[in-house]
Amino acid sequence: MTPVNSPAAMPRGGSRLDPWVDSYAARSAGLTASEIRALFAVASRPEVVSLAGGMPFVSALPLDILADTVAAMIRDRGAVALQYGSGQGDEHLREQICEVMQLSGINGHPDDVVVTTGSQMALDLVVRIFCDPGDVVLVESPSYVGALGVFRSYQCRIVHVQMDDDGLSPAALTETIDRLTEQGARIKLLYTVPTYQNPSGITASPDRRAEMLQIAARHNILVLEDDPYCLLGFDGHVPQAIRALDDQAVVYLGSFSKTIAAGLRVGWALAPHGVREKLVLAAEAAVLCPANYAQLTVAEYLDTQPWLDQVKVFRELYRERRDALLGAMAAQFPAGTTWTVPEGGFYSWVTLPEGLDATAMLPRAVSSLVAYVPGTGFYSDGQGRESLRLSYCYPEPERIVEGVRRLAGVIESELDVAHTFGTDHVQPPPGPAFPDPGMS
Ligand SMILES: Cc1ncc(COP(=O)(O)O)c(C=O)c1O
Repeated sequence: MTPVNSPAAMPRGGSRLDPWVDSYAARSAGLTASEIRALFAVASRPEVVSLAGGMPFVSALPLDILADTVAAMIRDRGAVALQYGSGQGDEHLREQICEVMQLSGINGHPDDVVVTTGSQMALDLVVRIFCDPGDVVLVESPSYVGALGVFRSYQCRIVHVQMDDDGLSPAALTETIDRLTEQGARIKLLYTVPTYQNPSGITASPDRRAEMLQIAARHNILVLEDDPYCLLGFDGHVPQAIRALDDQAVVYLGSFSKTIAAGLRVGWALAPHGVREKLVLAAEAAVLCPANYAQLTVAEYLDTQPWLDQVKVFRELYRERRDALLGAMAAQFPAGTTWTVPEGGFYSWVTLPEGLDATAMLPRAVSSLVAYVPGTGFYSDGQGRESLRLSYCYPEPERIVEGVRRLAGVIESELDVAHTFGTDHVQPPPGPAFPDPGMS
């Protein structure tokens, strides 16, 4: 019987919607819903052009072939595919992953690979084994919203480091580390998405990669390199990974989400040997083992299909969409609006004319049937109000052009309002919020 004074016995719909509100662990305080989550429910309606979500265009996959691949895999290896497996992941797949990483110049050993449920899980495991509450994680400005959510959930102190068109600024990185060290902070990780970054679309230059690594190594800070977009460069070039420069100072995260299928949820970490051991133990504690079914599907697909040709199909499709976005922005956006020109990946980062606020503008954009993610989602400290992220990966080119036309109209009318009434803004929200999955 439920005791009458237990939270479970409290009437639903009273003044407290969640009767367990006083029972949560302190670390769950970081798990708050984004204030714009409700808007994204509206933005997923078909009449809205969503330039918000970073969903890969999986309809371009050869679905019939994949269906046959899965059927053959279950028929031939069903007893393995449908069973529990190794906590570290399937050995053959780990060998294949090492071949995939060679495209980025990485010489990794299958023993040092841990297969995870998407690279998002690898991110979580790395933070779980390295970070105590209050430990500092250095991140780019802006940074991947899903990573910020993980850092917050482990009560890390997130510190943004300035970026420019070539990636993270070495001077800003050094200055930030010196300042934090002086304060007695413990800096554990430098998190970077150096290639076709989510959300800015920026790619770090080779020199910047080397400098970032040197600075981090000098201060004994582990580099966490998150690299899910590396094969999606529009000219076919794959930048050399930071991990290719050092096998001890970097944990590298990879994923099949953007090159095969996000729904399979197969990603990985490549880590120095000792770190790999801890990661496997943490992974076993979390999920026992990654799904064999999904791993064997990926392994079979890599073994039997010309998968790099399919990656080329994706690259060309995304390039066409990127071009549609850039062309439409150049033609339609009012003067004073600027944007990045991505050489691969899914995203462009737009900065609004001075005085406009992308967070405040979002409800008006959604009313005009276009959605984006406001820049504040990619910062943990309220920065980014003048910016927004546009994703061109999912809508067809004509929809992208239509979306930009609508957004241009919204920006124009915001400018009119700003010219008439001035540009006093509401203050940024006090705390960071957990992202909507549609934003990532
Ligand atoms: C930078 C970055 N890291 C990690 C992820 C998560 O990828 P996965 O599907 O492998 O979990 C994403 C997904 O959008 C991403 O953009």
